[in-house]
Amino acid sequence: MKSTEIKSKFKRRLSWGWKQKSRTQSCPAKPLLTGKIVAITGGNEGIGLATVRGLLQREAEVIMLSRNQQKSEKVIETLEGSVHFVKLDLGDISTIEKTIEDLENVLNGRKIDILINNAGIASRNSHRVSPQGYEFIFAVNVLGHHVLFKKCHEKGLLTSNAQIIAVTGDLYIEANDCTPDYDGSDMQAYARSKVGVMWWAYECHRLFPEYKVNIVHPGVVPFGLNANKESFAIKLMSSLMLSPEGGAQTTLICATQPNIETGAYYHNTLGKVILPEDDVALKADASKAFWHILEEIYDKDLRV
Ligand SMILES: NC(=O)c1ccc[n+]([C@@H]2O[C@H](COP(=O)([O-])OP(=O)(O)OC[C@H]3O[C@@H](n4cnc5c(N)ncnc54)[C@H](OP(=O)(O)O)[C@@H]3O)[C@@H](O)[C@H]2O)c1
Repeated sequence: MKSTEIKSKFKRRLSWGWKQKSRTQSCPAKPLLTGKIVAITGGNEGIGLATVRGLLQREAEVIMLSRNQQKSEKVIETLEGSVHFVKLDLGDISTIEKTIEDLENVLNGRKIDILINNAGIASRNSHRVSPQGYEFIFAVNVLGHHVLFKKCHEKGLLTSNAQIIAVTGDLYIEANDCTPDYDGSDMQAYARSKVGVMWWAYECHRLFPEYKVNIVHPGVVPFGLNANKESFAIKLMSSLMLSPEGGAQTTLICATQPNIETGAYYHNTLGKVILPEDDVALKADASKAFWHILEEIYDKDLRV
């Protein structure tokens, strides 16, 4: 995969719109993932569902970790291959212990080779805060995934050299912090949560060198993230931007292709991104402090 050194925010913002379809790399059909177990959050819709289809085409066994059981089971009926559903509500971390029990039952002594943290929301709808009192977009996009990863790690559900793929959004450059108590607009809360995903992934890479950690910007898929599918603007954008299948390509490349580097950030049109030194994602002190906050929440709300 090509790599791009980023010099200006202008070039990045341009990359979100310019020639999305023709510049997004497609994942080759091989190598296959035969015998591998892939767990993916939010695999019942949008980019996640297209990723599940791509994984099944490559013969992986897939565990779809999603909140909406009825929707997931309906979708699974349309899929060919080995897929299991395990209920996961990232927005309420008190429920994740039960998810882990269900996951253990499905795994039945086997382990997860690839964990894809794909689920994400960009608006709070009726929820302002999670049941534990944290800003809701942060709770789903970052905290829930942290708890899921930590519990999988602590229970030994990941292979010793598992791959963790964290799906972010390059829009994160529009924010400069991530905290559990943000009280502003949905758009800024979303950008901040994606700063959180970047910091989380860099810290995960530093603290758990046994795992291969990759960060993915999937590209812009206008129908995702609760977009109004009837809106004229969304219909127009979707003719110019990516389909969910296009949005799945970068995650599939990271999950299957050789020479994917651990700790690196992959972008649908820019390839491996070499970030400028002053990029918010590279603030090492901030990402360490952020991980510490996640751990404090984990200890306070979840340890028994
Ligand atoms: N679409 C874009 O243009 C774009 C751009 C950059 C980055 N991304 C990132 O790509 C990822 C996928 O986006 P998408 O466009 O495919 O989104 P989407 O179509 O809106 O799908 C979101 C998925 O997240 C799941 N989800 C939502 N809340 C959840 C919760 N509380 N617990 C568990 N799962 C939950 C949903 O499943 P349920 O309905 O079952 O809850 C659904 O499967 C996100 O991380 C997003 O930030 C998207």
